[in-house]
Amino acid sequence: MVSPDFSLRSLILLLLSRQLFSSLDTIKPNQVFRDGDILISKNKTFAFGFFKPGSSVQSYLGIWYNKIPEKTFVWVANRDNPINNSSGVLLINRSGNLVLLDESRKVQVWSTNVSSKTSNIAQLLDSGNLVLIGQISQVVAWQSFDYPTDTLLPNMKIGMDLKTGLNRFITSWRSGDDPGTGKTIYRLDLSGSPQLVIYRGSTKVFRTAPWPWIWVVGDDNSGMYNATFDNNKDEISEWFTMEDPSIVMHFVVDESGSLKRLAWDDQSRQWNKFWSFPMDPCQRYGYCGAYASCTPGSRNAFLCTCLTGYEPKSPRDWYLRNWSDGCVRKRNLSMCGNGEGFVKVGQVKLPDTSVAQAMMGMNSEQCKQKCLRICSCSAYSAMYTSERGDVCLLWSGELMDIVTYPDWGLDLHVRIDSIDLAEKKEDFFSKEGKLVIPLLSVGMVSVLVVTILCSQLIRRRKYKVHQDWGQHKRVGNILAALRCPKGISTTYNLQEANSHVDLPIYDLRTITEATNNFSSTNKLGQGGFGSVYRGQLPDGQEIAVKKLSKDSGQGPMEFANEMMLIVQLQHRNLVKLLGCCIHKEEKMLVYEYMPNKSLDTFLFDQSRKLELNWRRRYKIIVGIARGMMYLHQDSRLKIIHRDLKASNVLLDVTLNPKISDFGMAKIFEGEQSQGNTRRVVGTYGYMSPEYAIFGKFSTKSDVFSFGVLLLEIISGKRNNVDFREDPSLNLIGHVWDLWREERALEIVEPSLKESLLSNEVLRCVHAGLLCVQDRAIDRPTMSEVVFMLGSDTNLPPPKQPAFFLSTPIDVDKWIIGAKQCSVDEVTITQVNAR
Ligand SMILES: *[C@@H]1O[C@H](CO)[C@@H](O)[C@H](O)[C@H]1NC(C)=O
Ligand SMILES: *[C@@H]1O[C@H](CO)[C@@H](O)[C@H](O)[C@H]1NC(C)=O
Ligand SMILES: *[C@@H]1O[C@H](CO)[C@@H](O)[C@H](O)[C@H]1NC(C)=O
Ligand SMILES: *[C@@H]1O[C@H](CO)[C@@H](O)[C@H](O)[C@H]1NC(C)=O
Ligand SMILES: *[C@@H]1O[C@H](CO)[C@@H](O)[C@H](O)[C@H]1NC(C)=O
Ligand SMILES: *[C@@H]1O[C@H](CO)[C@@H](O)[C@H](O)[C@H]1NC(C)=O
Ligand SMILES: *[C@@H]1O[C@H](CO)[C@@H](O)[C@H](O)[C@H]1NC(C)=O
Ligand SMILES: *[C@@H]1O[C@H](CO)[C@@H](O)[C@H](O)[C@H]1NC(C)=O
Repeated sequence: MVSPDFSLRSLILLLLSRQLFSSLDTIKPNQVFRDGDILISKNKTFAFGFFKPGSSVQSYLGIWYNKIPEKTFVWVANRDNPINNSSGVLLINRSGNLVLLDESRKVQVWSTNVSSKTSNIAQLLDSGNLVLIGQISQVVAWQSFDYPTDTLLPNMKIGMDLKTGLNRFITSWRSGDDPGTGKTIYRLDLSGSPQLVIYRGSTKVFRTAPWPWIWVVGDDNSGMYNATFDNNKDEISEWFTMEDPSIVMHFVVDESGSLKRLAWDDQSRQWNKFWSFPMDPCQRYGYCGAYASCTPGSRNAFLCTCLTGYEPKSPRDWYLRNWSDGCVRKRNLSMCGNGEGFVKVGQVKLPDTSVAQAMMGMNSEQCKQKCLRICSCSAYSAMYTSERGDVCLLWSGELMDIVTYPDWGLDLHVRIDSIDLAEKKEDFFSKEGKLVIPLLSVGMVSVLVVTILCSQLIRRRKYKVHQDWGQHKRVGNILAALRCPKGISTTYNLQEANSHVDLPIYDLRTITEATNNFSSTNKLGQGGFGSVYRGQLPDGQEIAVKKLSKDSGQGPMEFANEMMLIVQLQHRNLVKLLGCCIHKEEKMLVYEYMPNKSLDTFLFDQSRKLELNWRRRYKIIVGIARGMMYLHQDSRLKIIHRDLKASNVLLDVTLNPKISDFGMAKIFEGEQSQGNTRRVVGTYGYMSPEYAIFGKFSTKSDVFSFGVLLLEIISGKRNNVDFREDPSLNLIGHVWDLWREERALEIVEPSLKESLLSNEVLRCVHAGLLCVQDRAIDRPTMSEVVFMLGSDTNLPPPKQPAFFLSTPIDVDKWIIGAKQCSVDEVTITQVNAR
């Protein structure tokens, strides 16, 4: 340490100085402070001197906690100008400045720059502040707190001193060994309305909530410290004070770009990290881009939502969860004196205020009017604070970095055009919090699967949302509409559907004109949920429009189900959905038109039944079986029809059967294939006993309906109508009796006799009887039925069928007999004899 050429005089001075400084907190003029000398603040909290951080061989002059064993530096004088070896010397020169010299190189490496006339002393205060004060005047000429390094101590200000023009900020060390100026900066951003920002280089990575609100969003200070943001004519700055001064705490930025709040734990003898930015992706600056808000959520959640009136700028990236491009206006409609207004976005961290200005003494209404008068004003926020009174913030230009919180935040009012203003009046939730699928635009749309998690209700649902993929991108819009009820945070999860399906949405006028204003002459029929009309589109295409009655009981959800279901189902034995039409309460489905109408109009009509010879009937049976098999297991969704009957099977021009009316279908995912419903929908004569009585439906209740339908096709008789004389004996009972007497062929429709293939008929009757067995578990699956119909293998003997459910009276008896299984609501379609 002591080099050979060191003179005796220097040695004496060195020893003297060690004595001088070891117990003192002050450097006086004419004193020399060398490497190894130390200043200790009065109550011994902080120390000042030369140090070599980590494995560095270079030395720095700085301040550290004196009593904390893990050496923690809070300030460095010469961070970018280290001294080799231990040749640093600090002194106060004649003009009262602290000057740090490298003795070996004979150069000055650091100094203060004050122009005080009096002589100063340097003193290390208990706050960790090194000050230069006039020996006589006691005026502070310089302080280390004005030139922070990477650490904010209590009472240390960050921000602008308007009198001196000094802007204080902290910058990370380059590494643990190198206190040199790093890339992470935490500073007060003065453009627009002031806010605290973390930069990596010149890129913003984080913002605190803007003035006049709080310190760091997400930092629960638990009464540990108080933060103050001062914004007056002398300064715009922020600092914090400790409620309990014995707690050692500070904020520090590190080179990785994070801001941490650390407090010393005496017990575990280590720094406790109380808070660290970033905690969640939403805290990253501009994570969702412009005009979007971020809602913190689970790891795989869809976090970003476009503001009302905006849509994703790059939809593909957006769906793939690269939200950084943000959102753009949906339409270029003037928002300046053109009927525009505002939509409230509640509980947010207000957007980047670098494009905002604050106005004092303006209440909410005045603030709104002010914003309206400024054409470039994109949003406003008005609030009242006890210190400031009314404050109005007006944004001009991009709204960046908005975060929506479930339990914190201020209201932002975003300017929207007259169209959005009209639309926003539609509340997407009814009072019960029931979801209504938003009205969709005209055009081709594709399907997205959206899972919504309403945190407090733990309500998880899957919706299919039609999304205009090719032209105008509306996912943000839809998500906004699919929000959980107010006050509950919404978590979205979007998956792109595997198949790309297109579903045109027709507008009401097109449909009204096509159906001649739903005239009675165009009416094809009336079902449980509404009427079906025939129509013709302007391009000549014939359509069937299912107009759902408003009081049909089919709510928007059921409707959405049906629509989304059918559009995804593609099978030659299913009726094709061409599109839909939604207008206010009115809901309509547009199908391909089947000129031959439904199967019942053939089966039970004296002259038309002749068109159905055995070959045709057999093909119809197999076609229906295939369609049902597709519904049950081959489509991506497992669908239970719940109302399969002759009038729900349509015939195309070649008499190929197509199953229609999926309005009551329930979707089951995965293994689940059975459910209970409080609401029974179906048609007497076709309902399996377990469904009619207990509301218990499954694919096997569809199999039952299929069995009944099959026997009707063969016999030309209705299960529930043609046996009125003897209610105990319906079609099923009749067939069962004949079967047991080996006279099954006698049930065959008389007009068929010529075209008959008796083996095929017997096989069909056999399969039909298997389908209508009493116990669901005994019935075959639809794929087994398809197999039975198409092969020569031996079939198991049928067990006793359920043939007692011919009239509602029977059902009542059953309900009385099984009181505990009451059926809440029964919607049953009585088959009208035509
Ligand atoms: C420190 O010493 C090294 C070699 O010992 C030399 O390369 C470097 O330039 C020196 N730095 C300063 C600041 O004197
Ligand atoms: C620094 O110390 C090393 C030995 O530790 C010595 O070789 C070198 O000359 C010294 N450099 C200066 C500038 O004094
Ligand atoms: C004291 O140091 C400061 C800063 O380096 C310098 O500007 C000033 O000229 C010095 N004063 C004297 C008397 O050397
Ligand atoms: C020191 O301060 C004077 C005025 O106070 C200024 O002109 C000069 O540039 C400063 N020097 C440095 C090195 O900061
Ligand atoms: C030392 O002084 C500082 C600043 O006044 C104070 O916050 C702290 O509590 C004191 N520490 C002790 C041990 O007295
Ligand atoms: C912090 O603020 C609270 C509420 O304003 C006040 O009661 C408390 O005394 C303050 N504590 C300090 C240390 O300033
Ligand atoms: C996100 O999109 C932007 C702009 O299209 C692109 O620059 C960036 O690399 C993308 N980020 C990722 C992680 O793909
Ligand atoms: C929007 O409309 C304005 C005026 O009608 C026009 O000047 C501007 O170029 C349009 N912008 C875009 C992107 O179409």
